[in-house]
Amino acid sequence: MIIYKANKIKGRITIPGDKSISHRAIMLASISKGKSSITGFLRGEDCLSTIDCFRGLGIEIFDEGEEIIVEGKGLYGLQEPKDILNAGNSGTTMRLLSGILVGQNFLSIITGDASLRSRPMARIANPLREMGAQIDGRRNGELAPLTVRGGKLQGISYTLPVPSAQVKSAVLLAGLYADGTTTVIESVESRDHTEKMVQAFGGKLKKEGKKITIETGELYGQRVEVPGDISSAAFFLVAASAMENSHLVIEKVGLNPTRTGIIDVLRSMGADIKIENERISGGEEVGDLIVRGKKLTGTTIEQDMIPRLIDEIPVIAVAAALAEGKTIITGAEELKHKESDRILAVVEELNKLGVEIKELPDGMVINGPAKIKGGRVESYGDHRIAMALAIAGLFSEEPVEVQNSECIAVSFPDFEETLKKIVL
Ligand code: S3P
Repeated sequence: MIIYKANKIKGRITIPGDKSISHRAIMLASISKGKSSITGFLRGEDCLSTIDCFRGLGIEIFDEGEEIIVEGKGLYGLQEPKDILNAGNSGTTMRLLSGILVGQNFLSIITGDASLRSRPMARIANPLREMGAQIDGRRNGELAPLTVRGGKLQGISYTLPVPSAQVKSAVLLAGLYADGTTTVIESVESRDHTEKMVQAFGGKLKKEGKKITIETGELYGQRVEVPGDISSAAFFLVAASAMENSHLVIEKVGLNPTRTGIIDVLRSMGADIKIENERISGGEEVGDLIVRGKKLTGTTIEQDMIPRLIDEIPVIAVAAALAEGKTIITGAEELKHKESDRILAVVEELNKLGVEIKELPDGMVINGPAKIKGGRVESYGDHRIAMALAIAGLFSEEPVEVQNSECIAVSFPDFEETLKKIVL
């Protein structure tokens, strides 16, 4: 993908469905009784991997254009898969699915692409084993492929050692199959889509501050409306915020407070972002974002804020490069365990574009404003790195060529077309 300098960003766009919510909708609908319909579903490769896995487990899922229909078979209606399940590039698929499979009375094997097979799985294998699950993988369960021999589980109380919605969700989903109560305690709150959706499907889940409890109980098919993904909106939010004379409206964006760190950070950098039409849709906060371009200034982002903007850090680094002064990001060690080592990828590639950026063990320091020069950069096969570099290209004197940009289809197949609509 080759990106050329833009003069301004202008227009009105909608953003594809939220990836986290789309995954959960397929999973919960599959283990519910009766039919579910999902509108706004993200047809990105990650969520299509989730559909494939549940089809492999005997669930009928129909794409009817406007909506996805899932014929749920109840908590114990999944069938032993005839082949290895493939989660592709998707950590959410592998980790949340494992939480469901440990409750099934059969054997499953889950694999993924080279990136996913290098990501840490002990973080789910450990608590699931504590619940009585037989789950294994390469290096004693640290790495996929994972094998799961499901069976009887007991509820546990588990304090999350890393703030991770994927680990939290894996334990809570296993809790649907466990005897007694399962409790998860978080130190910093991570995205709570699983909790909200389990409740919407009729599950026995309670949340008191950072403590969540769940008990077994059937789920029932629902209508799910998936809002636009704020993590995809983030690329255009940064582009329009940092480019003077820009005016962009992004409609129907999910504004769950566990996800809106990007808005807070951009505002702390001086960005002009307004929220209109705020409403609740499908149990999640939704609104339109109105962005006007301004000069930005550097900021500081610390550990407590990280879970609310973890996926947006690559593009926040681009905003920081364009901003006047220093930006310091710390407490973000988790970035090393994403689709790529995102600290390394961001530092290496923004450096190539002339940005003064230094790696920290748990983050980065960026000195702006940079004069971004063009050139060839590498996505590391990571969708969010590819899109963040494309946004840097909009501010570059010479074109920016992003190598291996096809990975963008993981979360945002129409990224380039959407960008073309708003770039002047
Ligand atoms: C996700 C949680 C986050 C995030 C990922 C999606 C989810 O991962 O980075 O893109 O849907 O639960 P962790 O929970 O592992 O931090």
